[in-house]
Amino acid sequence: MSKKILVTGGTGYIGSHTVVELHNAGYTPILVDNLSNSSVKILDQIEKIIGVKPEFYEFDLCDTEKVNAFISEHSDISGIIHFAASKAVGESVQNPLKYYHNNFFSLINLLESYREKPINFVFSSSCTVYGEPDVLPVNEAAPVKKATSPYGNTKQIAEEILEETAKAASNYNIIALRYFNPVGAHESALIGELPIGVPQNLLPFITQTAIGKREKLTVFGDDYDTPDGSAVRDYIHVVDLAKAHVAAIQLLEKGNPNGNYDVFNVGTGNGYSVLEAISAFEKASGKPLNYVVGPRREGDIIKVWGDVTKSADQLGWKAQLGIDEMMASAWAWEKYLSENPIQ
Ligand code: NAD
Ligand code: WQD
Repeated sequence: MSKKILVTGGTGYIGSHTVVELHNAGYTPILVDNLSNSSVKILDQIEKIIGVKPEFYEFDLCDTEKVNAFISEHSDISGIIHFAASKAVGESVQNPLKYYHNNFFSLINLLESYREKPINFVFSSSCTVYGEPDVLPVNEAAPVKKATSPYGNTKQIAEEILEETAKAASNYNIIALRYFNPVGAHESALIGELPIGVPQNLLPFITQTAIGKREKLTVFGDDYDTPDGSAVRDYIHVVDLAKAHVAAIQLLEKGNPNGNYDVFNVGTGNGYSVLEAISAFEKASGKPLNYVVGPRREGDIIKVWGDVTKSADQLGWKAQLGIDEMMASAWAWEKYLSENPIQ
């Protein structure tokens, strides 16, 4: 019988791709999602890819009773990958309490339901905890800087909660993965990023502009201290990111020699500017992109990319897909969505 892995936020962008990779690695994913930022139709899309419809339960992980009942009923869960959270930086500034409530109550409910019970736990963190790094590429030993948004603060505090919980109780075996910028979609173009409303992130805005849903892209500043003046990020293909979660579960199952709390950067180690990302998209899609340069976006980091040595040496994972595949898959997904709307 294959090991059962709970994937919270499993119908979401990264969660759905991780469900596919868990299945491919011989695990049985079981999904929980309240569908606050995803569609139940994603289950059908996943079924088209892996041939089986994953087990799915719809409820809010902030509901303590429901979490406890679910965990009691599923005592055969051997690991948890916790994606479920609110993640829009701008919204978090407008509505901080929504973010503190959702991102902390869901996490704490899950952790408390495993008091004295061994659990392997992988957490979705973010390079946002580094702020504007002093040294690039940024490694896991770099200082965590004061968050510039309530969202970023929830990730920093969540890491502290996890570290202190692991220190106090050895039944928790925890890995936090600090994602850089996930982009792209599964090669089947059946799952991908599903932004609700106006996309905040670069790639969905690029693809929606290219398909004609948006009139133009605004590049938020080209007067930064970077080679072409636009901001630099470490974009990582969402499928590579998904595979990093399988590697993290496998490391926890084997026993992490670093102890029962650890952190890994999950990026490619390469930085691309916004203008370079646009050029890569135009090359991959064959479509010139309509964009203008506008003012900087408040709170943006100028440049960040990851030192991914620790993940290669100790997690046994390294990104395989490059910027061309990221852009081509993002475009294929946008074209699929234009003919097969999923909401
Ligand atoms: P997403 O919004 O697509 O997926 C999150 C899923 O969690 C959604 O399906 C949503 O419905 C669900 N959810 C939210 N709150 C819930 C709750 N209380 N109970 C049950 N389900 C709930 O986001 P994503 O891009 O897949 O991100 C997944 C995780 O990775 C998040 O924790 C996010 O903070 C983190 N992350 C994302 C990025 C990124 O750029 N996408 C970067 C770094 C970290
Ligand atoms: C990338 C670059 C923008 C849109 C955010 C969160 C982070 C994580 C990933 C959750 C920046 C530029 C963007 C546009 C643009 N999310 N841009 N025009 O800001 O690096 O990270 O998403 O964990 O926590 O902070 O990603 O995709 O928003 O921006 O010029 O219309 O593209 O200024 O330089 P970001 P992004």
